[in-house]
Amino acid sequence: MKILTFSSSLRKDSVNSALIGVVNKILEEQKCEVNTLHFSTFDMPLYNGDIESSSGVPKGALRFRDEMDNSDGIIISSPEYNYSVPGTLKNAIDWTSRITPKAFKGKHFFLMSASPALAGGARGLWHLRVPLEGLGSFVYPEMFSLFVNETTFNGHELSDKTLRTNLENNIKGFLNNINTRCK
Ligand SMILES: Cc1cc2nc3c(=O)[nH]c(=O)nc-3n(C[C@H](O)[C@H](O)[C@H](O)COP(=O)(O)O)c2cc1C
Repeated sequence: MKILTFSSSLRKDSVNSALIGVVNKILEEQKCEVNTLHFSTFDMPLYNGDIESSSGVPKGALRFRDEMDNSDGIIISSPEYNYSVPGTLKNAIDWTSRITPKAFKGKHFFLMSASPALAGGARGLWHLRVPLEGLGSFVYPEMFSLFVNETTFNGHELSDKTLRTNLENNIKGFLNNINTRCK
C-alpha cells in the first residue's frame, strides 16, 4: 500500500516532522511504501482568483493532486495555529480544490498533530477535518495528538511505549479501513 506522509510545518526543527518520522517507521513495519515529502514541495502563492483566471492552478497544487492520486492514503501531521489550521495548509487545500476532476474526492486521510501545549494541537485537527470531508475525502475517525516536551522523542521513536502502541494501533486501523473500502 502506498502512503503519502507530510508535516504541514516548514520549520527545520518541527515537532510535527518528528512525529512524521515515527509514523514512517510504523508504516514501514506494516510493509507500506512510504512517500514522505517536505511541505515546501507544495509551495504556492496565496489563493487569488485573478491568478487562477490568468494562469490556472499553481504547480504546487498540481503536485499535491498528483501525489495524492499516486497514494492509497495520506497522513498529515499539522501544527495548531491559533486553535485552528495553519493558513499555509488551508491555502494549499483551497488551491487544490479548484482542480477538476475533484482532487480530494474519495481520498483517505489520517490526521495527527504535535504541539508543546497540553492539548497537543488537537483543536486544529477538528478544523482540518471540515474542508477535507466537505471535499469528499474519508477522514479516519480517530486522530492522534501529541504533547511534546524535551523527552517525547528518542530518535525516530516515541519514548512513551504506551503512546507508541496507541499510534501503531491507530495506523493499523487506518490501513485496514483503506483495504476494506477498496475491496
Ligand atoms: C502563529 C502561531 C500560532 C500558534 N497557535 C497555537 C495554538 O493555538 N495551539 C498550540 O498548541 N500551539 C500553537 N502554536 C505553537 C505551535 O504549536 C508550536 O510553535 C509548534 O512547535 C509548531 O509546530 P512545528 O514544531 O511542527 O513547527 C502557535 C505557533 C504559531 C507560530
